[in-house]
Amino acid sequence: MALLSVLTPVLVAVLCMVIGFMFVKSRQTETTSQDETKGASKAGFRPWVDQDLQDDTEITREDEDGEWVDSAEEEDLPHVPYSPPRYPEEKMLQRSQEFYTLMNQRRSVRLISPEPVPREVIDNVIRTAGTAPSGAHTEPWTFVVVSDPETKHQVRLIVEEEEEVNYRQRMGDKWVHDLAKLRTNWIKEYLDEAPYLVLIFKQTYGILPDSKKKTHYYNEISVSISCGILLAALQNVGLVTVTSTPLNCGPQLRLLLKRPANEKLLMLLPVGYPASDATVPDLKRKPLDDIIVHM
Ligand SMILES: Cc1cc2nc3c(=O)[nH]c(=O)nc-3n(C[C@H](O)[C@H](O)[C@H](O)COP(=O)(O)O)c2cc1C
Repeated sequence: MALLSVLTPVLVAVLCMVIGFMFVKSRQTETTSQDETKGASKAGFRPWVDQDLQDDTEITREDEDGEWVDSAEEEDLPHVPYSPPRYPEEKMLQRSQEFYTLMNQRRSVRLISPEPVPREVIDNVIRTAGTAPSGAHTEPWTFVVVSDPETKHQVRLIVEEEEEVNYRQRMGDKWVHDLAKLRTNWIKEYLDEAPYLVLIFKQTYGILPDSKKKTHYYNEISVSISCGILLAALQNVGLVTVTSTPLNCGPQLRLLLKRPANEKLLMLLPVGYPASDATVPDLKRKPLDDIIVHM
């Protein structure tokens, strides 16, 4: 009894401390989640983020069932000598100027001629895109080249239906206003007219011949670099395109083109010669001083 009467105040004190600690903890959690919610709504409305595009290698891995390959299972790779051409400085300067002039002529063209383009040229352009660097050399890209008129038309129907909803509902006034000067809307005649549509899919993970899955590190960055090289290769042969990212069309286009579930549509490029009456907005590019920082 005596012991109990001695211990009671101690027990009460401990109990008070536990309750106090739990109260403070719950307030902290509340504040954090309120801050997160506020942050999300302030950083906020980002209608251009495609629902289908997961951009995080780790999230993809956690979300997907199935057996993943262990990196230890991959083989050792021999290293070989590498000696690309080296130019005298004068030649380097000349080449850098010529390449800049070529690339500075690149424009997004939304009026494309139906005139046929040799398929071998397209194959070479895509071969070139496939030379891009990729996270851990995973080459996480698939280029679907559509030339069949009926399939192109199906692509157009899907894109126009979604784009109309995008322009009318999803994009919001600011985005629609920012695009007005480019005179773009949801009608995409080039999807029927261009001799080729190149749909570029990023593979969120790889599937090996034994069906095991392989992590594709930085797959979106890798595929985006590859798209940049593809644009340069098109410019090099005098073909045009418009970089398009048809918002929320990915799942339907993936089904139409019978691509597997690990592939997500990143870009759609109509490819061909410019139409004879093609025009482009008179945009100016930032001068070098605005984009370079020497330290
Ligand atoms: C990631 C990205 C997405 C784009 N999406 C579209 C698009 O959906 N539709 C379109 O007409 N142009 C699109 N463009 C093209 C831009 O409007 C164009 O690059 C920009 O106006 C600059 O013009 P230029 O390409 O002629 O230099 C996109 C460009 C990029 C880089």
